[in-house]
Amino acid sequence: MEQLRVLITRDQIAARVTELGREINRDSAGEPVVFVGVLKGAAIFLSDLIRTVQLNATFEFIGVSSYGARAPRPENRLVWDSSGEVRLTKDVDQSLRGTNVILVEDILDTGLTLTFLKRLLLGHQPKSFRVAALLDKPSRRKLAIEADYVGFTIPDEFVVGYGLDYAEKYRNLPDICVLAGVEG
Ligand code: IMP
Ligand code: MG
Repeated sequence: MEQLRVLITRDQIAARVTELGREINRDSAGEPVVFVGVLKGAAIFLSDLIRTVQLNATFEFIGVSSYGARAPRPENRLVWDSSGEVRLTKDVDQSLRGTNVILVEDILDTGLTLTFLKRLLLGHQPKSFRVAALLDKPSRRKLAIEADYVGFTIPDEFVVGYGLDYAEKYRNLPDICVLAGVEG
């Protein structure tokens, strides 16, 4: 039986997203910024975040897929052993050369996705490159990579809601919840 327990409420999310927007405003004052959201998980975070900045901002989406489904139980997760496990499913629509890029991720977990995307986007030769991750699970990291802006640092639990899914479900939950009791 799947069980949901609220970990971060919609009010906490809204307050933190506003703070992140303020930091981005301050750090990017006077500069145009291209926000690049990672589909699908970051779509909701991106749409809230860009409305908190008063910058010359545009946005793009990029899509990636991991080989094999993620399961909420650690013992059911795939063992990643190379950098070939992340695949691009949708590229950005235009070159990011010379732009100030902020990559927007739902969650930074092992770091494999972000490492892959950072390498890809740095290939565009942006003027600057930063990362905003709504959630960070540092205890799960396999590759040394960090975000410049982190909404919340969370323990090693599988979370859904506010864009995050389990098998495509729960993305529309307004709060971020821990999902327990799923047979992966
Ligand atoms: P990484 O490549 O291991 O850092 O994984 C990042 C991606 O894994 C995220 O963008 C999510 O799609 C997925 N993911 C990792 N942890 C969770 C979670 O707790 N809930 C939902 N998706 C997760
Ligand atoms: Mg994702």
